Amino acid sequence: MSTSHHRALDLRRLWTSLQREHAGGNRRYSSRGPRLLKALRPPGEPEATGLAALGQACVHVETRVKRQVRSIRLYAQPALLGTVCLLAAACAGDGHPPAEPLFSGNPADFTWTLPTGWTPPSVPADNPMSPAKVELGRRLFYDTRLSGNGGFSCASCHRQEFGFADARNIPVGSTGEPHPRNSMGIANSAWLTLFNWADPLTPSLEQQALVPMFGDRPVELGLKGQEAALLDRIRAVSLYRTLFAASFAGQPDPVTVPNLTRALAAFERTVIAIDSPYDRAQRGQAGAMSAAAVRGEQLFSSAELACAQCHPAPFFTTAAELVGTGGATGTTFANNGLYNVGGDGSYPTGNRGLIDRTGQPDDMGKFRVPSLRNLAFTFPYMHDGSISTLDEVVEHYARGGRVIVTGPNAGDGRLSPRKDPRIRAHTLTTQDKGDLVAFLRSLSDSALVTAPRFANPGPTR
Ligand code: HEC
Ligand code: HEC
Repeated sequence: MSTSHHRALDLRRLWTSLQREHAGGNRRYSSRGPRLLKALRPPGEPEATGLAALGQACVHVETRVKRQVRSIRLYAQPALLGTVCLLAAACAGDGHPPAEPLFSGNPADFTWTLPTGWTPPSVPADNPMSPAKVELGRRLFYDTRLSGNGGFSCASCHRQEFGFADARNIPVGSTGEPHPRNSMGIANSAWLTLFNWADPLTPSLEQQALVPMFGDRPVELGLKGQEAALLDRIRAVSLYRTLFAASFAGQPDPVTVPNLTRALAAFERTVIAIDSPYDRAQRGQAGAMSAAAVRGEQLFSSAELACAQCHPAPFFTTAAELVGTGGATGTTFANNGLYNVGGDGSYPTGNRGLIDRTGQPDDMGKFRVPSLRNLAFTFPYMHDGSISTLDEVVEHYARGGRVIVTGPNAGDGRLSPRKDPRIRAHTLTTQDKGDLVAFLRSLSDSALVTAPRFANPGPTR
């Protein structure tokens, strides 16, 4: 029997089982089911009456779909052209149930998952969101095909359990080269106006993704000069062909590097974690924040400590912009007194912040003000991961600079001529310090580390 005959049989069996589910009165409803069924309808089969109702069965027969999806996918591909509907092989039998059984390439089918009161981030006009594109980006994010030696993915350094950072001071790239800077949590990066620790130029998540892929100072994914091989590896995967076609409809060859970065960015924009105890308290939920955290917020916002001047709500950074607010004002790059090598305010060679980009002496030790959301997961802290705990961060600010007694980086950060004047000693009691830490902790949304929609979907075949 020919393969296509097999596929046709599989499809017919699925079709029959869907009809049986319908007859059985299954009530679970997926609005995309009808379109899927239409696309899957075997040639010659009359269009069933009540196709919409039949679609309800779609979700219920997922288990059966899982077993058959590979052949169906191949068979149905031509039939799917011109429709916005496809069956995701997230169900391809690897034990990871899909968050959504169906993925549409139609931007109109995309909805943001936001807590009450939040407006969606803006999205580049040439990269509208769609369910298919987000799923494609998620798969690419977790796929080691995106590295030169097949051993690395974005998720090697951006791990969900660590708030999409990686719990290391500094990461090591696919070829073993250490990265000078700490991996950043990517949550809420949809709202960022600046990316990376000290980078004034990268304008978007799409552009940012090129750095780990093709950059060689340091090597991260190690794909420089391997564009063609990378695209061949991706094109060889049937689910990728399907998801690229759905996400970039009408393009004769949608598997391109720009589209790959568009999909990665679309997924990253959905990694949103803004429903912390602090946010619930903002919405008026009594008791959402502990009394200590509430006291800590007062200290944080005080003119004396000035934390909120550099780390303003709602993202606790000046480098993010809520649509319609005109953006946060204030310093986006600052020197917070971590180093004073040689007494002239210098930072360690190779990691001196904005000055390495601009050459301006005033930019010595200036790094982007980081968001303070989800710090409970994204330890260790600072651009080089040199502070391990939030208690130590608070000690650092209370002291007004870091003192390093011995070694090549020795120096008294309190006396740095380059640090921001707001970084100065404060008199804080033990309780004050604990309260500040409690406040910082209250900015973490635990859904970030648990939500299945951000998780590794399993191997893509
Ligand atoms: C070797 C570890 C490593 C890998 C692999 C890696 N990253 Fe990163 N990522 C980092 C580090 C380190 C930074 C900070 C870079 C800097 O400031 O120079 C970063 C920064 C980022 C940022 C900026 C976040 C912000 O708040 O500004 C985004 C977004 C990001 N990475 C996405 C990705 C994507 C997408 C991939 C895969 C294509 C990826 N990363 C692969 C380590 C890694
Ligand atoms: C002058 C601006 C400024 C002020 C004031 C300021 N910060 Fe920062 N903060 C920064 C910058 C810049 C960094 C990153 C520095 C680096 O990595 O070299 C940072 C880093 C942090 C981090 C580490 C975040 C991470 O992801 O690694 C925490 C936590 C933090 N600040 C909390 C506070 C608190 C609490 C206060 C008030 C006591 C405060 N900041 C005051 C600018 C400021």
